[in-house]
Order: sequence, then structure tokens, then C-alpha cells
Amino acid sequence: MSRRILVAHGANLGLLGKREPGIYGTVSLDEIRAAMEGRARRREAAVTWVQSNHEGEIVDALGRAIDAVDGVVINPGAFTHTSLAIRDALLALAVPTVEVHLSNIYAREEFRRRSVISDVVLGVISGLGPRGALLALDALLDHLDDKPFAWEGAEG
Ligand code: DQA
Repeated sequence: MSRRILVAHGANLGLLGKREPGIYGTVSLDEIRAAMEGRARRREAAVTWVQSNHEGEIVDALGRAIDAVDGVVINPGAFTHTSLAIRDALLALAVPTVEVHLSNIYAREEFRRRSVISDVVLGVISGLGPRGALLALDALLDHLDDKPFAWEGAEG
């Protein structure tokens, strides 16, 4: 069965590639999008995409996703640290969700070390740069497909 995944990016992530490249790197959100959509196609999954600098638009997208998606990959940007509305929307949606951050939020300022959604998601990837979003998509699809754990190529 084809899995439906919502990929959501919050505030300032549309500036990736130009924004603080020493922290967030030089890969743009369009490039991340193309990589994720390519991976999704190969895995016969359908991606719905949203990026917004407005908290309410992320909340609306999560609300629209009820009964319409099987899982979520989300990088809320700065909303990570403040948005009880996004947390509540994730709880209402109630599908497996992977939280992603390009930077390692635990190695940065004190105020970034707390995420208000981490305890209601399946898992968190933080600090692995743009590849984190791809890893999140793969892990989420494996989880949804109940795919048994195996290291790729470990069979020799
Ligand atoms: C971020 C980390 C947040 O603290 C920050 O506000 C962002 C990006 C990351 O991907 O590392 O906008 O979510």
C-alpha cells in the first residue's frame, strides 16, 4: 500500500542554503525537497509538502492531514521550542512522526535544547544536516511498513 507522508518545515527553513551556512550548511530546501520526493517515489510513497513561517499554517496543514496521511516528518524551526499549538496538532493527528533538525539542538544555546514536541513523536534526528530529513523519511517508512531491522548490505 502506498504510504502518504506529510513533510513540514517551519520558520526560516525556506532560507536554507543562504541562512547561517556555518550552522545549517549550503543545501537549499528545494534540494532537500527533490531528494525526499525522489526517495519517496522509489519507495512508492506520496509526499505532501509544506513550508511556512507562520505557525498557524503549520497547524492548519497538520489539521488537514487528519485521515489523509500515514506519517509526518517535521522540522518546525524555532517553533520547536515554543509551539504548544503544533504539539497539540500532532497529538490530534496521532500518526507516527519523526522530528528533524539540521543542527544538533543539544549542542547549541540553552533555549534550543528544549523541544516541546520531542516527547510526543516517534523519534528525533538532530545534527546530521540535510541527510537527517532523508534518514527520517526512510525510518518512518520502515516503521509504517513494519520492516524488520536489517543493516543494508550487512549480509555481505
Ligand atoms: C532548527 C533548529 C532550531 O533551533 C532553529 O530555530 C531552526 C532550525 C534546525 O534544523 O537545526 O530554525 O530546527
